[in-house]
Amino acid sequence: MRRYHVTTFGCQMNTHDSERIKGMLESLGLGEAHVQADADVLVFNTCTIREKPDTRLAAYLGDAAARKRQDPELVVAVGGCYAEAQRDRIFERYPFVDVAFGPGSIPHLGDWIRAGGYAVPRGKFGTHETFAATLPMHRERRFSGWVQVSMGCNSKCAYCIVPAVRGREQSRAPDEIVEEVEALARDGVKEVTLLGQNVNSWGRDLAPGLVTEFGELLRACDAVDGIERIRFTSPHPKDFRAPVIAAIAECDAVCEHVHLPLQSGSTRILKAMRCTYSQERYLALADRLRTAIPDVALGTDVIVGFPGETEDDFRATLEVVDAVGFESAFTFVYSPRAGTEAAAMPDQIAEDVKRERMERLVETVQKGAGARNRGRVGSTEEVLVEGPSRTDPALLRGRTRRNTTVNFRGSSAPGQLVHVVIEGATSTTLRGREQVMALV
Ligand code: 5AD
Ligand code: SF4
Repeated sequence: MRRYHVTTFGCQMNTHDSERIKGMLESLGLGEAHVQADADVLVFNTCTIREKPDTRLAAYLGDAAARKRQDPELVVAVGGCYAEAQRDRIFERYPFVDVAFGPGSIPHLGDWIRAGGYAVPRGKFGTHETFAATLPMHRERRFSGWVQVSMGCNSKCAYCIVPAVRGREQSRAPDEIVEEVEALARDGVKEVTLLGQNVNSWGRDLAPGLVTEFGELLRACDAVDGIERIRFTSPHPKDFRAPVIAAIAECDAVCEHVHLPLQSGSTRILKAMRCTYSQERYLALADRLRTAIPDVALGTDVIVGFPGETEDDFRATLEVVDAVGFESAFTFVYSPRAGTEAAAMPDQIAEDVKRERMERLVETVQKGAGARNRGRVGSTEEVLVEGPSRTDPALLRGRTRRNTTVNFRGSSAPGQLVHVVIEGATSTTLRGREQVMALV
């Protein structure tokens, strides 16, 4: 049997796309190889949001080229966002690549790799721009599933390459989404994460109907029997309208966790980023969320060193991070991406300044998240058990509704919902012990 291996970079959307890539390849009769060295078909599902994943990909492709010199039958396929961004250059740069395709082309991957022949002539980029709604799927997790609600993004954030590579926003039909959630529930899935580049603008491009607004979609998913937890990522602060907040507050299954990308706390920089909200509006929204959804955990994304960012701008970011009190934050050093508006801006910030700001930001984030997590010590949290702890196999690992990882003593099985008494905390994880009675 021919075997494939998929290496995935980037965000949850890409991880989910890889589940479809694997499903497509399995529908062609290929089996999964657990390491690259055992595979006849190597797929790289790439990311290009920052420079780092590009560099990592180059190293992997160097190894693939060496293998291909030994074994010319090896198929090398490069998909995802980097492939799309580099579609005109990828075969020049990596002439040994057989198939290249963008994120919108996964439905056709099967045709292209069919049994070693190529439906796309070697060296030609495979394109097909449709919504890949239902495809064979190789699910990575038994009790949690991703459900794509939209593809693409209509925002024009000056730093971001995603709109260029993933195209205009297209919402998936609500009945298809709910059917997929129902199918996952029948399969034993307890937790679904709705995925979109900008989930809370979902539905605006749909024809008028019963469910065309993200809050209504949350309610429709909440009504599905067997789904205990609903998450969604990523929302955009500008699209957090009242019905969405009400739906999070009122739906039992929708978790008390909102990822609310901040990017910068300086209104001046937010404007340069074309983020369409100000520091004040962001703070007001965080307040509204905390008031409407008691106990909500807020996560965020922050970029340091955007072109023109002064020490005062950066301090404004630290102040907002401090004031909101995020339970988690992804922190990024600004990375210029060719083709974006910000890459061409004057006043690019020196690397040492970016790094120094990053250190201060991480310190502020850790201080805040550590304090908030320590505030949970003594409480009892509902935890979805995922498996053994990554650091200590004698412990179990799971996540709270607020999306914090907990390592705990207990005897429950993956997929169970249990109560865990919290005994300790760091800035990223909790520790505890399971209460004897399982909830479900
Ligand atoms: N440089 C650094 N961070 C970026 N992000 C997006 N583009 C860039 C860039 N060019 C970050 C944003 C976004 C997250 C997914 O990645 O914070 O929310
Ligand atoms: Fe995800 Fe963006 Fe990376 Fe594409 S470029 S994989 S959308 S993070």
